[in-house]
Amino acid sequence: MCYVADKRRFDLFARFLVKRFDGPRVFDVAGGMGKLNEALTKHGRRVTTFDKRHKRLPVHYQERLFTLAEPCHADLVVGMHPDGATRIIVEYAARHAIPFAVVPCCSDNSMSYKPWVRHLGELARALGFPRVEEHDLPMEGRARVVVGFLE
Ligand SMILES: C[S@@+](CC[C@H](N)C(=O)[O-])C[C@H]1O[C@@H](n2cnc3c(N)ncnc32)[C@H](O)[C@@H]1O
Repeated sequence: MCYVADKRRFDLFARFLVKRFDGPRVFDVAGGMGKLNEALTKHGRRVTTFDKRHKRLPVHYQERLFTLAEPCHADLVVGMHPDGATRIIVEYAARHAIPFAVVPCCSDNSMSYKPWVRHLGELARALGFPRVEEHDLPMEGRARVVVGFLE
C-alpha cells in the first residue's frame, strides 16, 4: 500500500456496488484479508476473494493470484486498491463480457495516480465497454471508482 488507506473503504465500496449491480456472484480480486467479501456478503452477494493471504477472515477465498485464465463464475468483478491486478480486472471483465468496478491505487507501470485512473477508463473503452464512469467514494485517500457497464 502506498499510503494509509481509509478503514471505511470496504463498507463504502460494498454499498456503492449493491446500489448499481444486481448480479449475485462477485469476484473480489486482490481482496487482501477478505473485508470487502465480508461487507458484500452481508448484502447477500456470493463473493469469491482472490489473494495470497494466509491470515484472513473466514470468507470464500481462493489463495492464489488472479489471472486472465481464471474460469468465469461471476456476474461482476471488482477490486479495492488492487495494485498489480487492476489492469487484469478490466481485461478480464472485457474478455467475459461482465461489468467491473475498481478503486485504483498504485499503477503497474509507474504512472502517477490521476493519469493511471484516466488510463484505466481509456483501456475499458478501447476494450469495448460502451459506458465507463468515474465516481468518488466519500472517504480519505484514493477514493475514485472506475466502473465499466455493458450498456
Ligand atoms: C494494496 S493491497 C490491497 C488489499 C485490499 N484490497 C485492501 O484494500 O486492503 C494489494 C493486494 O493486491 C494483491 N494482488 C496483487 N496482484 C494480485 C493478483 N494478480 N491476484 C490477486 N491478488 C493480487 C496483493 O497480494 C495485495 O494483497
